[in-house]
Amino acid sequence: MKVVAGNWKMNMNYKDAFALFHSLNNRLNNNEVEVILCPPSIYLSEFSNKLKNVKLAAQNVSSFESGAYTGEISAQMLKSIDVDYCLVGHSERRALFSDSSEVINTKIHLLLENEISPIFCCGESLSDRESGIQNEIIHNQLESGLNGIDLSQLKNCIIAYEPVWAIGTGLTASSDQAQEMHFFIRNYLKTRFKIENDIASQIPILYGGSCNAKNASDIFSKNDVNGGLIGGAALKEDTFSSIIQSF
Ligand code: 13P
Repeated sequence: MKVVAGNWKMNMNYKDAFALFHSLNNRLNNNEVEVILCPPSIYLSEFSNKLKNVKLAAQNVSSFESGAYTGEISAQMLKSIDVDYCLVGHSERRALFSDSSEVINTKIHLLLENEISPIFCCGESLSDRESGIQNEIIHNQLESGLNGIDLSQLKNCIIAYEPVWAIGTGLTASSDQAQEMHFFIRNYLKTRFKIENDIASQIPILYGGSCNAKNASDIFSKNDVNGGLIGGAALKEDTFSSIIQSF
């Protein structure tokens, strides 16, 4: 499956968000690509009633099931308004909101129990890469994030490789660097879940980090890159649409 997801992060007031959602939802008609929008959660409920050509992802979910957790949104609530996907483990949540490996793993389990597909983000920092330990970092993030997940659950997951040094910096990983890491992730899945290539290749692995209309086709041309998780370039209809056409 080819996937392009737009992570709007904490951008756009209602009027702009609705206008962007409306035109993408009505105009996109590329049947080969699953297009997922990740707007701020306050907009999910309204958008979910109007879905045509896009799917919805929440940007976050609570690690608790229900109850006295002021300000939180549960997986059950997301399911009740037909949200199909949810980001988990984004580097901004790890760094700024202290989402630990345990919390990330709990969120993944709760999402899967509620039939929402996690878009599980992993990625190394600049200092990790400069020290040459990116594989070890990604291995550890996958190992803890997917702890207790079985193969039938993995089949409902999307993995996003987002090197922290490339997020919002304009420093994209080269297509070769992306391919190398995606190949590493695919091999990890093969070993961890004891599966052959044909099954492992069905798990989408998306690249994220300064992906834009200019570099997307080079990155998407690589064997193990099944699409992108787009930040800044997802906020404009024309750039996001041309990224979707980049396969
Ligand atoms: P940018 O595309 O703005 O670098 O953000 C990537 C990202 O964090 C998507 O989740």
